[in-house]
Amino acid sequence: MYTIGIDIGGTKIKFGMFDGVSKLVKEDQISTPKEAIVEKLIAAIKEMIQDQEIHGIGVASAGIVDFQNGVVRSCPNLDALANIPIQDMLEDAFHVPVVISNDANCATMAEGTAGVAKTVSSYICITLGTGIGGGIVHNNELVHGNSGYGGEVGHMILVPNGIICGCGRKGCWEAYASGKALERMISEAPELASKNYQPKDVFQNYTFDTSCKCVVDQYLEYLSIGLINLQYLFDPEMIVIGGGVIDSSKYWWSELEGKMAAASVPIVLQQAHLKNNASMIGASLLVKQDK
Ligand code: BGC
Ligand code: NA
Ligand code: ZN
Repeated sequence: MYTIGIDIGGTKIKFGMFDGVSKLVKEDQISTPKEAIVEKLIAAIKEMIQDQEIHGIGVASAGIVDFQNGVVRSCPNLDALANIPIQDMLEDAFHVPVVISNDANCATMAEGTAGVAKTVSSYICITLGTGIGGGIVHNNELVHGNSGYGGEVGHMILVPNGIICGCGRKGCWEAYASGKALERMISEAPELASKNYQPKDVFQNYTFDTSCKCVVDQYLEYLSIGLINLQYLFDPEMIVIGGGVIDSSKYWWSELEGKMAAASVPIVLQQAHLKNNASMIGASLLVKQDK
């Protein structure tokens, strides 16, 4: 019997079959469809499962998730997902229990169960991808907040009247320090715009190309300001950073740590261990906890 974990993001949807806690036996992904998202996802998962038996499905989704009703209420980078009865649709298609939660909350729980935060009881995990996600664990409990969107740290305002964010407000941290924000910064840098560089290219050239260095330094500056704010707000034992941007961390990690040291902030920064699979693993854990 397998558990299915699904991670729905603004760019792609990843899904996997798990055997036991976080043991991934099969995985696949599709680009996030513009329409009929859940229908297409169901077809892709059926293809992966074939005739194997499953006992539950966990879904990690970007956005503000109404856990009780199994619906994403609003989603900054994926409008088409809002208010679709994901849980009901998946339950009808697969005839097993389905649980849904915020993607960064799932990643946070996964890092605490099987990743870098196993040994601490109060920590924050942020994910740097299309958006910035966040999850806060205090004394081993995930902080849901009053309405369920506690830990939506990507929408803390960093710059008054700043760049417009996917959520409609201006100046959010996400508009300055997500992977998507970095893409924008690259496209706006005169020397880089014509080169068709992706974030991984500017990171790779960081140490020897001044135009790349300029963009990355600015990016890390924004990233570090948000981290410092979080550290002072919660004083966690550890802040874990995950998401796609972390794939290039070997080029910039020490620089980020240097910024913290320069600001004399007592922060323990760690890279996510489960990397890009954290939300998907966390999604499968939802099922086990729910049983
Ligand atoms: C959303 C979060 C999500 C994050 C990462 C943000 O734009 O507001 O809910 O966790 O992106 O996907
Ligand atoms: Na969250
Ligand atoms: Zn925002």
